[in-house]
Amino acid sequence: MDKIVIEGGVALKGEVSVSGAKNAALPILAATLLAPGIHYLSNVPPLADIRTMKKVLELMGVKFQEGEPLVVDTSHLTGWMAPYEVVKTMRAAVLVLGPLVARVHQASVSLPGGCAIGARPIDLHLKGLEAMGVKITLNQGYVEAKVKELRGAEIILDFPTVTGTENLLMAATLAKGTTRIVNAAQEPEVADLARFLTVLGAKIQGIGTDVLTIEGVNALKPAPYQIMPDRIEAGTYLAAAAITRGEVRIVNAPVQHLTAVLEKFHEAGVQFTTKDNLIAVKPGGSLVGVDVKTLPYPGFPTDMQAQFMALMSVAKGASVITETIFEDRFIHVSELRRLGADISVSGNQAVVRGRRYLMGAPVMATDLRASASLVIAGLAARGVTEVHRVYHLDRGYANLTEKLEALGARIKRVPA
Ligand code: UD1
Repeated sequence: MDKIVIEGGVALKGEVSVSGAKNAALPILAATLLAPGIHYLSNVPPLADIRTMKKVLELMGVKFQEGEPLVVDTSHLTGWMAPYEVVKTMRAAVLVLGPLVARVHQASVSLPGGCAIGARPIDLHLKGLEAMGVKITLNQGYVEAKVKELRGAEIILDFPTVTGTENLLMAATLAKGTTRIVNAAQEPEVADLARFLTVLGAKIQGIGTDVLTIEGVNALKPAPYQIMPDRIEAGTYLAAAAITRGEVRIVNAPVQHLTAVLEKFHEAGVQFTTKDNLIAVKPGGSLVGVDVKTLPYPGFPTDMQAQFMALMSVAKGASVITETIFEDRFIHVSELRRLGADISVSGNQAVVRGRRYLMGAPVMATDLRASASLVIAGLAARGVTEVHRVYHLDRGYANLTEKLEALGARIKRVPA
């Protein structure tokens, strides 16, 4: 298993380009199941999670031709099962549930178990599908879904679940009649999926809002589509630039989807300007502790919480970070402490007292964004930081080591 070795203390300098959004590419790949034929998807990021999703689709008879654009052939489906071995490594594999019930009227998907950042059930996905007439049974750890004819329904989500909204939205495109998803997730990646579905011929109103109205159609047809850029990757480079007091131009950044994040970085004293799809970070000013609470979009994203905490660990004063989306999403805290950070946790709140500097150490994390926070901290720490279990980073960051190296970081990936 590889590790990343960082010699901290170099101010990042230069330009970095943001890749396609993982959380948009995953549901869009699943959505290709809805429209038989050949799809051309561009800006699909080269990530482990994407490879996992392709593996799931291949098990169903989907064929891929690598390249830019990625060619996806969904003409003939031969299966409808997402096995435990895959779902346990990537929960997002449950995104095939909605498209499969819509296209082949059945699906068998392993129930995701607990994971590193909390229990994360899928009860809301299932309740919504049941409202559309799907019979759901649980058999040996698998959700077995069957339906004769999907019908439109009024679905009020108890919580604006992201992948839950996406599963229901995809199913609704081919249902008979109208579906209304109330309290739908408003994340930009849900909107990107909805735009893709519209290009395929789906009839969706309210894209980007918390009420999605979908009028079912008889069939969808493939059409080319370009995946949006990754707002969390952009935010991660912003944190890396800020913590090293670097001068970095983040290009191809979805600035319009980063409002809450940019606001907090601004409050924290980070100097930057934005223009179109560019965030230009400048050195200077002193970092100050600010409070952050994670919320569903348009609030501050939980997927930026760990990276922001790394930044706060060297800011002047205290910062209270409240996590409201996931239980147990502070696993990076104990590792950040190993780098010298002063953080105490009580329930879903972490109090970070900024230190003048962090010190390098060997660390490891058990989730993607936690690992990113350790890399960010390592870039600023004095001495050498070794980040183990790099495969977490491979799940969500395209060419992370190369991109940071190009910004001047002393970073290398070595076999452990
Ligand atoms: C998605 C993102 C993930 C992000 C998260 C929150 C993808 C592939 N992943 O995950 O990166 O961190 O949104 O922005 O897009 N819940 C239930 N029942 C359900 C579904 C969810 O109780 O049926 C709860 C979860 O346990 C969690 C909260 O709702 O506490 C949010 O989860 P959800 O929005 O579903 O996250 P994901 O879609 O899994």
